[in-house]
Amino acid sequence: MTEKFEKHFKELVKKVEQYLSASIKEENNAQGEIYKAMNYSLLAGGKRLRPVLTLATAELLGADCDEVMPFACALEMIHTHSLIHDDLPALDNDDLRRGRPTCHKAFGEAVALLAGDALLNKAFEVMAEAAAKMNDPAKGARIMQKVGNASGTEGMMGGQVADLRCEGKDITEDQLRYMYAKKTGALLKAPFLIAIEAAGKTGTDEERKLLEYSETIGLAFQIKDDVLDVVGDAKLLGKEPGRDAADGKTTFASLYGVAKCEKILEEMTVKATSIAKTFGEKGEFLREMAEYLLERNY
Ligand code: IPE
Ligand code: IPE
Ligand code: MG
Ligand code: MG
Ligand code: MG
Repeated sequence: MTEKFEKHFKELVKKVEQYLSASIKEENNAQGEIYKAMNYSLLAGGKRLRPVLTLATAELLGADCDEVMPFACALEMIHTHSLIHDDLPALDNDDLRRGRPTCHKAFGEAVALLAGDALLNKAFEVMAEAAAKMNDPAKGARIMQKVGNASGTEGMMGGQVADLRCEGKDITEDQLRYMYAKKTGALLKAPFLIAIEAAGKTGTDEERKLLEYSETIGLAFQIKDDVLDVVGDAKLLGKEPGRDAADGKTTFASLYGVAKCEKILEEMTVKATSIAKTFGEKGEFLREMAEYLLERNY
């Protein structure tokens, strides 16, 4: 990782954190607990990958980053909603997330369920507010539609259902790829959909290349997550490893073993970096991002 990449990554994370910290005001009223639960999970760190990818791609394409910021942060709210619900006893039943007890461990299942819902709802509120202020509000509406699709039944939520229904079953690589593209890939493709729409670049060759890049890193991201569940360290990960096996999940790691997964990941990284390189100097951040995602240990 070059210093330049690390510095820019940190700058983008800082801007995102500032926006997120100001998004949900904690009220001292009858429902005060829900605000606490939302911020507990939203402001607990995390890599902030989805908003960072949104802003970096907006920069690459020359879109207005201030205009894109609310959509970038809305994605992080939706992602956090997905994590809170993913950890519930009805889903993966996990106790640790982002280095602290999961939302339901800290606030109880009922409040965690509602805090997850409320983050999803807040995301669309934030996006609608931003869309109304855009020079071209229809552009904002199109972004919202794409984000809704990415997080819903044909995206993350659909993938989560497929994941649950595959527990304890032998499934094929093709079935796994389908599930991963939805449960994880969809919310990692959304940053590119947002930036492309904001920059007015739909239907271009740049769009085609960026979407191929996003699908590649999206799939690789979940395979790496599977590997980290086998070899990762709880302290670094901020979540408990070994949980996939305990839940009877077939993963790339259980199907092929860690060594073969590492090889697959290297090949996917080569593919993603070569796409990024076609953008020349402007593609440097995405090239380094693909390499960082390969090497990450949390
Ligand atoms: C974890 O996502 C869930 C998956 C999609 C595999 P991240 O690894 O991006 O989690 P945070 O945001 O850094 O906590
Ligand atoms: C979850 O995949 C993807 C989501 C939609 C949250 P995992 O269940 O493997 O994510 P972790 O390992 O709990 O973060
Ligand atoms: Mg899960
Ligand atoms: Mg999980
Ligand atoms: Mg996992």
